[in-house]
Amino acid sequence: MKVMVLGAGAIGSLTSTLLARSEQVDELVVASRRLPPARDLVKKIGRKHVKAKQLDCDRVGDMTKAFKGFDMVVNLVLPRFNLKIMDACVRAGVHYLDTATDLVLTKDKKGDKIERTPEQIQLDRDDTWKDHDLTAMLGWGCDPGLSNIFARLGADRLDRVDSVLVRDGDNSTIEGYEFATLWSADTLIEEVQMDALAFYNGRFTRVGTAEGEEVFHFPEPVGPQTVYNVDHEESNTLPLFIGKGLRNQDFKLSLPKGLAEFIRLAKKWGMTKADPIPVRSKFHNTTTKVAPRDVMTALLPVPVGMAANVHGSTCVGSVVKGVKNGKPAGWFIYTLMSHDYCYKKYGYNAVSYTTGAPPVVGLEMFARHEVSRRGVFPPEVLDPVPIVKHLPDWDIPYGERVEVAG
Ligand SMILES: NC(=O)c1ccc[n+]([C@@H]2O[C@H](COP(=O)([O-])OP(=O)(O)OC[C@H]3O[C@@H](n4cnc5c(N)ncnc54)[C@H](OP(=O)(O)O)[C@@H]3O)[C@@H](O)[C@H]2O)c1
Repeated sequence: MKVMVLGAGAIGSLTSTLLARSEQVDELVVASRRLPPARDLVKKIGRKHVKAKQLDCDRVGDMTKAFKGFDMVVNLVLPRFNLKIMDACVRAGVHYLDTATDLVLTKDKKGDKIERTPEQIQLDRDDTWKDHDLTAMLGWGCDPGLSNIFARLGADRLDRVDSVLVRDGDNSTIEGYEFATLWSADTLIEEVQMDALAFYNGRFTRVGTAEGEEVFHFPEPVGPQTVYNVDHEESNTLPLFIGKGLRNQDFKLSLPKGLAEFIRLAKKWGMTKADPIPVRSKFHNTTTKVAPRDVMTALLPVPVGMAANVHGSTCVGSVVKGVKNGKPAGWFIYTLMSHDYCYKKYGYNAVSYTTGAPPVVGLEMFARHEVSRRGVFPPEVLDPVPIVKHLPDWDIPYGERVEVAG
């Protein structure tokens, strides 16, 4: 296949490095807004069939031209460009895969009636993509991605599904930094500035971000972590596609308590807003316009350069509970990976790895016609068994434990 990866950041770098080794990929172009990071990555990969390109994902016309002749575009830039990239794919006749959704496509808040979830806006294009005989594989990272596949795996074993709770935990420390994110800071701020979508008692609802504190016991070495509601893609699609009477679904992320408090405060203060505001500097006697969120992002280190400094492990999975043969049953199905192992073996942290490797599994399955469905869909609509069988092809860990139902 002829593949174009968009983005040469934390995730795009890892996915491109693995795709360059895939037997399914004959030609690979890494495209990014600025040429130097893409060119440096291609140099590091060091294979003749991999090239770099400058491309702005805000420009549909440029992308349409650039995509022509490719088989698949793997979107690893920021999700705010998804719809434009999808438009360009349809115009160029190219299949598509991404790992995130633009969660601010709808503007509802805690207490509002939810008419449409943000990801439904992408899913609404299903008919158009089918008409063009094209496939758009949405949310093929770790979470969303593996979490959706694990949710389907658990649900398929049950006669009735009561709840699917996605839990994301990490016990890592980042040498030299009091605080840093392991993936796009912009995406983290986007996730935490929205009230979190959840599905309780059979209805979509929004709950406060960084609220709903609970302690979740991840498998060792991650162990018990305090987790909080955060807005995430899984809550957009699992309630729509899991079926079997699913009543409750939410997503919780482990956060240090102090950070959870800071997030709630920063949001109230307006520090997560993306619209520029006029700022007069009392220190420099200048006036400029700046988006508060850009200031927060600029104060954080770039995740792509931090892999060597990260120590600890990450664990992400889905707790699926329900009824089988008249009896309560449930499992926590997860991926668990050490950052130190990952850095030694691949030169990346485990969050980048568990996010950047699943797109390779998905793309290879598509190339081998093991995924042949057309239209726009999340991972949980596919049979999870063959997908899980292919996880070891790319060293993606997978485990499960029985969860007491109830
Ligand atoms: N599903 C999951 O588990 C999961 C987990 C983590 C992240 N993600 C998703 O993965 C994606 C990439 O995240 P990341 O951590 O790799 O982010 P990142 O390190 O910030 O990298 C983003 C990349 O996008 C490029 N970019 C930004 N604007 C662009 C534009 N207009 N045109 C072309 N390229 C542009 C950036 O180029 P510049 O450097 O020039 O700005 C950079 O190469 C995000 O959508 C994120 O939400 C998914």
